[in-house]
Formats: sequence, structure tokens, C-alpha cells
Amino acid sequence: MAPATSLSVENPNQAETPSQASKRISVKTLVESPGLTSIPSNYSYASNPDESAASEPDDTVPIIDFSLLTSPDPHQRSKIIRDLDRACREWGFFMLVNHGVSKSLMKEVLDGCNQFFNLPMEEKMEFEGKDIWKPIRFGTGVDVKIEKFFFWRDFLKVYVHPQFNFPQKPEGFREVAQEYSKRTREVIKELLKGVSESLGFEQSYIEKAMNLESGLQIFAANLYPMCPQPELAMGIPAHTDHGLLTLLIENEIGGLQIQHNGKWFNVNPLPNSFVVNTGDHLEILSNGRYKSIKHRAVVNSKATRISIAVPLGPSLDTVVSPAPELIEGESGRPAAYLPMKYKDFMDRQLDGKPCLDYLRLPVA
Ligand code: OGA
Ligand code: NI
Repeated sequence: MAPATSLSVENPNQAETPSQASKRISVKTLVESPGLTSIPSNYSYASNPDESAASEPDDTVPIIDFSLLTSPDPHQRSKIIRDLDRACREWGFFMLVNHGVSKSLMKEVLDGCNQFFNLPMEEKMEFEGKDIWKPIRFGTGVDVKIEKFFFWRDFLKVYVHPQFNFPQKPEGFREVAQEYSKRTREVIKELLKGVSESLGFEQSYIEKAMNLESGLQIFAANLYPMCPQPELAMGIPAHTDHGLLTLLIENEIGGLQIQHNGKWFNVNPLPNSFVVNTGDHLEILSNGRYKSIKHRAVVNSKATRISIAVPLGPSLDTVVSPAPELIEGESGRPAAYLPMKYKDFMDRQLDGKPCLDYLRLPVA
């Protein structure tokens, strides 16, 4: 890849002035400015050495049939638990089919997000802010480390459990989002029963240990407008999710990439499926058996993409550590992570370095 300096010769784009950048509220506003044919250079991410291009997978993301998890047939159940274990261990990502959440609810919630992002800016500005503990937050992607680089993404992030918060506009969206949050929470809890078993525990182990009754659930909607130079911009840079499991849907445009065996792969979700991934706290609880996998979202020049990520994590006051049963006994290995309260973990993310990196212990 060409070094950054030659890139700026080929690309005459100017960085925005500090005052333009500080007024930057959304990518949507930028895209709607007349005659935009190239991106301001403070959106150009292509020279970042951590970000290599994606290749085609030589293998496919596993598919898990949710209906088998609730099967009364013990043989089917043990097979699906083995499949779940393998999917979490080898990929940390899978597509979930036959999950029982209706197609119409999935469409309504995506439509609601679209309408939210189309609200006049003044109405969205009510939710603007940097405080990660704000229950409803609207904003645009910005690199927290330098605050000078922008990502090609606007977002709405809402804490929907244990307390349900949500914007009152557009009309009807709040009710749809409440139903969607409830249904996705049920799906994740059922999956976590299976994951408890795949780790060798009884079904309710994770639910009890992580206090899921008051578990933190987030509704995170992402808007990726069409981008005139998609190869230069980045929607969301490589990151891991901090909860236990995340469910993701999108409006069938594509753009999610995951890291697998050290390479980036495109994920093309099956229609009406959930893309599920394991998060940091499942990595800690499982003592590293299940890894929290890096993923990112790239952008395109053809269509606006909307995705909704719904992670469920422990309750904020839960101190998460590797399950004692996995670090003791003959088959166990030493604890590979330090314990930390989930709330403190979230606060620690603020400086831009993944908190999981602080907690990993050097285990032989
Ligand atoms: C996220 C996320 C990916 C996508 O919101 O955490 O990883 O495809 N989104 O939008
Ligand atoms: Ni994510």
C-alpha cells in the first residue's frame, strides 16, 4: 500500500478545518452537502497499517439452528450444543436461523432506525453528547484517541435493559424497539443456556453468575451513508464487543467483516438471520475458551446501510472473572484474566485501548 504522503498527492482532498470538524455532527449531513465527489482527508483511513483488505473465505461462517436448542430430543440437543461449542471456539461468530423473531418485527425496527436518522438534526441533537453513560446517545464515529479522525458512520446508542430508555420520535419507533429488545433478550438468554452447557455447566449457570435478570442490554443502530470513496473510508474500525453475546441485523447491503485465522472475511448474512458474536465477557468467563473476535464495518458507494447491534452483558455491578470450575481441577488451566466489575470495564474503555488487554494474564 502507498504511504500516506503519496496518497495525499493523488488525492487532493483537504482535511476539514478544525472549526468545520468540530461542527461535524453526522456523516449524513456531510453526504447531503451538494456535489460531494470525494471525502475530506480526515475521513481517509486507508493508510492505517492495522487495516488490511478482506479476502474471500475458504470456509463459511457456521449456521446454528435455534429451533434445535429447544428440541425435546436429547440427541438433537447434545448435537446442537456441540455445534455451538465449535462455532464459539473456532469462529466466535455464527448465523442464527429459525430463531422465532418475526420478519415483520425485524423490518419494522430497521425502518424505525431509518426514520430516526431522517429526523431533523435539531431533534437528534437532544441526544448528542460524549458521556457513555447517557441513556440515549446520538453521534458520529470519531476516533476517541485523537478526536481528529472520523468514521463513515452515525449512530444511535440506547440502554434498553434493565431500564428501558428510548427516544419518543419517530412515532411508534419506541414501541417497536421495546418489543425487539425483549425478543432479542429472550433469544440471547436461550443461547446462553446452550453456551452454559457447552462449557460443561448446568443451563442456568451464566444467567445466575452474570445476573442477567438485570443484565445490561444496548440497542446500537448504525447508519453508513453511501460513500464516494469507500476504499478510503471506514465505517467502524476493528473492535471487539464488550458484552457476552451480540445479535446483529442489517438491511441486506453487506459490509461486516470479521477476523478469522488472522485474515479479514466478508460476512454475507442469510436473509432474516441474526449474526451472533461472542463478546469480551464471554471470553473472560470461559477463561479464554471462547475468544471475543475482532470485527469491523466497511462502507460502499451504492447504497445506505443500516445495522442494529444488540449486545447483552452482565449486570453492571457484576464482578466478572473466569468461572472457578474452569480454573480448578485436573483439566483446568490457570486463570487467564483478572476479575473486574462490568461498570469499571466500560469506564476503562474510554481511553481507546481495549480493556480486555489490561486484564489478560500471561499464562504459560
Ligand atoms: C457494532 C458493530 C458492525 C456492523 O455496532 O458493534 O460491530 O456491521 N457493527 O454494523
Ligand atoms: Ni461490534
